[in-house]
Amino acid sequence: MKKIVLFKVHMPKSVDESLLEVLHSGFIGQGPKVDEFENKLSNYFENKNVLTLNSGTSGLHLALRLANVGCGDEVITTPMTCTATNMPILAMGAKIVWADIDPITGLIDPNDIEKKITDKTKAIIMVHFGGIPCKIDEINEIAHKHGIKTIEDAAHAFGAEYKGKKIGNHSDFVMFSLQAIKHMTTIDGGLLLCQNEEDYKRGKLLRWYGIDREAKRKEFRCEEDILEYGYKFHMNDICATVGIEQLKYIDNIVNKHIDNQQFYDRELQGIKGVRVIPKPSNSKSSSWIYTIHIEKRDFFQTWMAQQGIMVSRVHERNDKHTAFKEFKTSLPNVDKFNATQVSIPVGWWVSEDDRAYIVAKIKEFSEKYL
Ligand SMILES: Cc1ncc(COP(=O)(O)O)c(C=O)c1O
Repeated sequence: MKKIVLFKVHMPKSVDESLLEVLHSGFIGQGPKVDEFENKLSNYFENKNVLTLNSGTSGLHLALRLANVGCGDEVITTPMTCTATNMPILAMGAKIVWADIDPITGLIDPNDIEKKITDKTKAIIMVHFGGIPCKIDEINEIAHKHGIKTIEDAAHAFGAEYKGKKIGNHSDFVMFSLQAIKHMTTIDGGLLLCQNEEDYKRGKLLRWYGIDREAKRKEFRCEEDILEYGYKFHMNDICATVGIEQLKYIDNIVNKHIDNQQFYDRELQGIKGVRVIPKPSNSKSSSWIYTIHIEKRDFFQTWMAQQGIMVSRVHERNDKHTAFKEFKTSLPNVDKFNATQVSIPVGWWVSEDDRAYIVAKIKEFSEKYL
């Protein structure tokens, strides 16, 4: 029987040589490989303010800090995401204000964001769920009217575009995850892209305890004054070496995801009990996951597993967790989205035969059970 997985690590053999060389070079911390990786990423994103970090979660944490979010401040965000999107808000001692989402796309709803802004709102986080860009311009316009910073959680959206420009250029802060199963991995890692240079420079200090690593030193000690506390969020040369090699493959990887997405967009139309998520015409999804809505979703998951196809809800609404319970509110569209959403394999490893088999099985399920 076929076995089609939902996620797969892309690790080219070609990384071996450079990785071994750095591993035994005597220098494995943050050094020249990190610089080289950041330069290459700057070219890729056409944004010079790129910070490499040890995870995407650290990227969000750093973005909130750079947005000066503090104790008691409010951050508007979506619960329909990985818990990593929202944990950093709690780490800052700030309060979560959930905004509702579009019941079909699962993306945060700008109208609900606007309703939830108060004097205490310091930042808004939007998540490009599955790689489909949110309504970025609308959200930024609302935010900037009120002097609020915006953060894109683009963990799913490496290589996605919005209005003809790569995601990574539209908001105050954009975070990418380079964790194991993302489009591109550095084993673990993350990026924070800043729109303004001041934030970038401050971020560069804060990712390394607030220490200016570029300042001239006589010897090992840190002689420059540390102006404010920082974190240990930086990337190391081992992860950067993996990233440099991965970057050579990224266009191909993203294009394969998109090709499979376009196939499903065509082939899954008009199936009883199945709803395809329409993709906005002004953007390009990077299709990290491909989400559909289907009736009898839980039974569908079990049935597809029996056919050798792994499908999953991938993310659980965050507001169900005890850690977030004090922020609970009514979110009717999250209820709707969450009741029927499920993701099917779409990645670079899904062959033409695989995707045809997946569509055939969805049709069979619909005919038999819906
Ligand atoms: C939407 C989303 N945000 C944030 C993260 C956190 O990224 P990282 O695992 O690199 O910390 C992830 C995933 O892993 C994610 O899927």
